[in-house]
Amino acid sequence: MTKPSTPNPPLSSSPVGVFDSGYGGFSVLRELRRVLPQLDCIYLGDSARAPYGGRDLGTVLDFAEQCVELLFAEGCRVVVVACHTVSSVALRHLQKKYADANRRVLGVTIPAAENAVAVTRGHIGFIGTTRTVASHTFRTEVRKLDPSVRVSEVAAPLLAPLVEEGWEQGEIARLAVEKYLAQFGDIDTLVLGCTHYPLLREMFVRCASSPLTVLDPAPFVAARFAAWLEKHREFRSAGSGKLRVLCSGDTARFSKNVPRFLGSEPPEIEHVAEHHGRLAFTPDGSEPSGQFVR
Ligand code: DGL
Repeated sequence: MTKPSTPNPPLSSSPVGVFDSGYGGFSVLRELRRVLPQLDCIYLGDSARAPYGGRDLGTVLDFAEQCVELLFAEGCRVVVVACHTVSSVALRHLQKKYADANRRVLGVTIPAAENAVAVTRGHIGFIGTTRTVASHTFRTEVRKLDPSVRVSEVAAPLLAPLVEEGWEQGEIARLAVEKYLAQFGDIDTLVLGCTHYPLLREMFVRCASSPLTVLDPAPFVAARFAAWLEKHREFRSAGSGKLRVLCSGDTARFSKNVPRFLGSEPPEIEHVAEHHGRLAFTPDGSEPSGQFVR
């Protein structure tokens, strides 16, 4: 006699890990928590080493491994790579290295491609960091879904620092956005392929010379994640919407910037720093400052 399958296996309680090079990934976390409010999450922002987008491949892989290892060590079983740069160049590597029956690593590039293919009339523009665009991963994923769709990619290294600085609404942002938009041809859909760009969405809409669908992939990423959890019920968790936030770098600056991306105040930030090639918690929970001598 075959054993009857359990329709609703007992839920474990493990948080979902989400990481980014800095605070931009909160734009993805915000959507995840909107769709799945019971989800317990640990967010890691590697702000001490941001931006990742202009770094060499080996460094991005190394930093990404450190982030994933810390989140698994903190009890996560699923890690969502919110950072488009990491997702574009390192997702396969991270999945090969860490994913097994109990642990998964998911990215944002495939959902972004699915979202764009679903709405485009034939020509998608993709804007992201230098490393993301150089990988052509987004274009590759679009071609797998629909080879007839054209993709034009533009690297915009100035935009993430501009948003970090809180300048997403002024004249400087307008000029930068106009200059980058001018590099695209007759696109009908523009994908914001960097976690910082949702804060520039209105600026892109305003600066577009012809009707343009400007897509922040985060809501679609969250919807795909919810569908994935439905299918992989062994990874569902009995949470209560708890959030822990870890960052390398300046915790006070980080804390001040979080609401711009998350839409709410963060809990107290826990500080981590690289120590012998691994991210580890700092003993007093904050970054040392001032002059010191070893
Ligand atoms: N978080 C990065 C991304 O989504 C942008 C900032 C960076 O360069 O680190 O690609």
